[in-house]
Amino acid sequence: MSEIEVSVRPYAEGDRWILERTLGDPIQMVNLNGPESVEHIGKRHSRFLAMSTDSRAGSQFTILAGPLQAPAGNVGYWESEWGGQTGWEMGWFVLPEFQRRGIATAATRLIIDRIQKLRSHRLVLAFPSVENHPSNAICRKLGFTLAGRVTSEYPAGSTRSLEVNIWKLTLPSSGGDAPRASP
Ligand SMILES: CC(C)(COP(=O)(O)OP(=O)(O)OC[C@H]1O[C@@H](n2cnc3c(N)ncnc32)[C@H](O)[C@@H]1OP(=O)(O)O)[C@@H](O)C(=O)NCCC(=O)NCCS
Repeated sequence: MSEIEVSVRPYAEGDRWILERTLGDPIQMVNLNGPESVEHIGKRHSRFLAMSTDSRAGSQFTILAGPLQAPAGNVGYWESEWGGQTGWEMGWFVLPEFQRRGIATAATRLIIDRIQKLRSHRLVLAFPSVENHPSNAICRKLGFTLAGRVTSEYPAGSTRSLEVNIWKLTLPSSGGDAPRASP
């Protein structure tokens, strides 16, 4: 996998097209029970903007990649609960033309570093579909532990079910960087 420069900035007003090209695309959403409607994407856009105002309550970021820092996708975290524990759930997506270059892995690592600096929840969670090979690979590479699988409703309220893996990462209690897994 080639090394490519990756950074993140807070999700911004002009970023809705990135959601439309990923969440609105049936191919990109094959592991997420299909594309989101225009209406749903609009609501998500507003929610992402609102989330970007206070990083302690969760946040969404636009991924920038390459020498021109081109918008390449999205990564974010939000409060979630699993097994009686509250933690930060994470999600990510990368535009098709930027995929398979390590961008999602690098961006997720950057956000885990940010979460670590918040010094709030130590638990980080991700729930990719069992079929989502790249997302499961990202969790494995970043040192998450596979804690099982569960069938959940996705999207919420849709009555459609999705079998997901439960990935957990426990951050160090204080100081230092987030754990680094082997490449
Ligand atoms: C999941 C997604 C964000 C991965 O982005 P990416 O930038 O291509 O990921 P990376 O390049 O960091 O790759 C991570 C790992 O997945 C592997 N991978 C990437 N695409 C793959 C594919 N289509 N099939 C199998 N493995 C794949 C990579 O090889 C890498 O593993 P490796 O380093 O051991 O080889 C991207 O495929 C995507 O946006 N998918 C659609 C939306 C989605 O499913 N989001 C996640 C919801 S949980």
